[in-house]
Amino acid sequence: MRRPVAFSAVLGAMLSASACFGPEEVYTLPDAVTDFNALFATNCAGCHGKDGRGGAARLLNDPLYQALVKKERMIDVISKGVRGTAMPAFAKSAGGMLTDQQVGILAEEMQKRWAKPAEFGNVALPAYDGAPGDATRGEAAYRTFCASCHGPEGKGVIGKGGPVVDPAYLAQVSDQALRLAVIAGRPDLGAPDGIYQHWVLAQWPADSQAVGRNHGHSA
Ligand code: HEC
Ligand code: HEC
Repeated sequence: MRRPVAFSAVLGAMLSASACFGPEEVYTLPDAVTDFNALFATNCAGCHGKDGRGGAARLLNDPLYQALVKKERMIDVISKGVRGTAMPAFAKSAGGMLTDQQVGILAEEMQKRWAKPAEFGNVALPAYDGAPGDATRGEAAYRTFCASCHGPEGKGVIGKGGPVVDPAYLAQVSDQALRLAVIAGRPDLGAPDGIYQHWVLAQWPADSQAVGRNHGHSA
């Protein structure tokens, strides 16, 4: 007669333990997650920073960047990744973990939360993308606008700006990323975007982009 007693004691312990789990403990299947904050924290914050700023990879929580980029372009990049860089492909169709719906939520919510269209109502923004410009003009622009922080040869100045012509760095960033770095800066890391605006209007981004490539290839 001892066994049933022991058994019911164990069963009783199990039942009371399970009573600790409230409804919020119910496991949500990864595909069913539709909360932006949860999706971003799990999949993106490791590289783009908590709340989309301060990470190793591009600042996303930035009204200027969000004004430049189209939602469709973000959906495309998130889905397929950027070849040759650390940006992974997230869509299931490209071998990733996210459904098209989740990718859509990420892009849509980034625009909703982080774009401030009113701030750019009267500003003539440069094009989001474009072909590389002229490297000679770019060198001149670099000396005028960039050398004070990144050094005369782009090797960086301690306390001001990092190296930007390091071949290892250039090998893992796309031209588009360089263009965006010039247009929108990294205000979250102390690289100002305000002063970037006039290069922008004078076609500097394309030229600077060409300079970066030139250095990278000749170094
Ligand atoms: C392992 C690091 C890593 C992770 C994780 C990551 N990214 Fe990226 N992401 C990058 C890098 C690096 C780039 C820049 C690639 C390049 O050189 O063009 C980038 C670029 C982007 C861009 C494009 C910027 C542009 O307009 O060219 C978007 C948008 C973006 N990521 C969104 C996301 C989102 C949303 C997530 C999460 C679902 C995510 N990323 C996760 C590293 C990462
Ligand atoms: C006032 C200082 C300052 C000026 C001027 C400046 N930068 Fe920067 N830049 C920074 C800082 C700070 C960062 C953040 C990371 C680092 O330290 O390199 C940065 C980052 C960058 C990056 C890397 C972005 C990334 O995260 O991938 C590039 C590329 C770059 N700058 C290019 C330029 C170019 C080209 C110019 C001139 C058109 C320029 N910068 C002007 C301070 C500056």
